[in-house]
Amino acid sequence: MNYQHAFHAGSAADVLKHVVLTICLERLMEKAKPLFVLDTHAGDGLYRIAGTPEATEGIMRLWPQRAHWPELAAYFAAVARHNGTALRVYPGSPLLISGLLRPDDRLVAVEQAPRAHAALQQVLRSPQTQIFLGSAWQALNALLPPRERRAVVLIDPPYEAARERRELLDGLKQALGKFRQGVYLVWYPIKERREADRLRKGLEELGPSLSVELLTFPADVHNRLNGSGVVIINPPFGVENRLGEVLPRLAQALSQDGVSRYALQSRVGSARTRAARAE
Ligand SMILES: C[S@@+](CC[C@H](N)C(=O)[O-])C[C@H]1O[C@@H](n2cnc3c(N)ncnc32)[C@H](O)[C@@H]1O
Repeated sequence: MNYQHAFHAGSAADVLKHVVLTICLERLMEKAKPLFVLDTHAGDGLYRIAGTPEATEGIMRLWPQRAHWPELAAYFAAVARHNGTALRVYPGSPLLISGLLRPDDRLVAVEQAPRAHAALQQVLRSPQTQIFLGSAWQALNALLPPRERRAVVLIDPPYEAARERRELLDGLKQALGKFRQGVYLVWYPIKERREADRLRKGLEELGPSLSVELLTFPADVHNRLNGSGVVIINPPFGVENRLGEVLPRLAQALSQDGVSRYALQSRVGSARTRAARAE
């Protein structure tokens, strides 16, 4: 596999994933207890985005308006930390997380591709962070439960190989068996609606969940990434309300045709407890 996240860095899908991640971390960090963060598919860490098409339709759209998004201040501050006044580079998940950690928190970032792993080692050096070269699925098994007993696990596979969906569901099931109370964030692409729904439902069956989706194109425009979603298993209290405030504006700002498309659904077992949706 030769996945290069550099093409997608700062895209609308990255913005959604990183906004959800930041909001979850902020909520959990309101409590004084130490937090463990496991980033199972870490990537390169820092990406040049000046002029790249996907960042142009993603973070570049929001950046000039950032003063009008006080609810996303932590996210924009994390991006700003790596830039001057102009936005030239975009921090991937391990750098975003590392920028938010408090002194007693800890991050483990796992990356399987040697090139991306070496790139990450160059840009992320912190005594609170360990970077491992290896497989996400082995890391989930080996590193959970963490000694802190409070954790966020970000699972962000490239979805290049057919087997990844099965590995994801099996790996997550096993992780939940070892560490039931963890907060698990799983990103997924929306290319073909039915395929995305199948994966989302499979994830939602694993525990109490909050599912967030944002589409920049109508669903089912053939052969393109029309949007993406994040399923949060064991969502922290308050995250649903914060996302409910942010998501409609974010969907409007990132839409490719002016139509706002998003969904926010919380579920416990087979019961849908609350839902908000546009389009
Ligand atoms: C979508 S990118 C990660 C982006 C990053 N999470 C972010 O938000 O900035 C997916 C990464 O996972 C890596 N990868 C693919 N399969 C993996 C596996 N089984 N275990 C760990 N990393 C893997 C790829 O090399 C790639 O760098």
